[in-house]
Amino acid sequence: MRKFIFAIMLLQFSTQLAAENESTAQLEEQAKHLSSQLAMQLKARLKNAIETGGPAHAITACNVSAPQIAEELSKGGWEVGRTSLKLRNPANNPDEWERSTLLEFEQQLASGTPAANLHTSAVEADEGVTRYRFMKAIPVGGVCMACHGEAISEDVQSALAEKYPQDAATDYKPGDLRGAFTITKILSEDR
Ligand code: HEC
Repeated sequence: MRKFIFAIMLLQFSTQLAAENESTAQLEEQAKHLSSQLAMQLKARLKNAIETGGPAHAITACNVSAPQIAEELSKGGWEVGRTSLKLRNPANNPDEWERSTLLEFEQQLASGTPAANLHTSAVEADEGVTRYRFMKAIPVGGVCMACHGEAISEDVQSALAEKYPQDAATDYKPGDLRGAFTITKILSEDR
């Protein structure tokens, strides 16, 4: 009899585990979708702004639209944003988990992992709040150089100095890790 109960318990436990695994896979699917949405919308807005008025004008456009696009995508309990170890906008400051993930991404990139494969997820419980968290690396590409590279034109420099007096997000080279998309969903809150 005991053995039988134990077997049932084991069965329940493994179904529970399977359900949790499945929902984590679903969460990861949604988080990936949100980060590619954010990437696509930012790129489209950036391209459009550069074509209309050049990179200096695009700084003003990014200043307003980047936080706005992130906010628009933050629906249904999801929170969507970007972060980096070298910040332009101080509001994108990484927390502890984001900082250590960014450092891991840098190490993995340096040891040859392609940037496209760098993503990670975790379930975190902190002060009664359980969160699903996901991060995906953002590599520097050629288009980024006008505003994040080593040789930045004077008009871009002065537009940056005006909007971001503490800007640290320059001197990047193509292939560097610029930062990461960071996506969070609160799973439960017991308070
Ligand atoms: C026209 C200038 C411009 C170009 C080109 C540009 N950026 Fe930015 N970038 C900005 C501005 C302005 C911000 C600050 C946006 C804000 O206020 O949230 C920013 C912020 C960021 C951030 C958020 C972290 C932080 O430092 O605040 C990331 C990540 C980022 N850019 C990556 C890229 C990548 C990758 C590319 C190339 C695909 C790129 N950027 C091209 C102007 C630019």
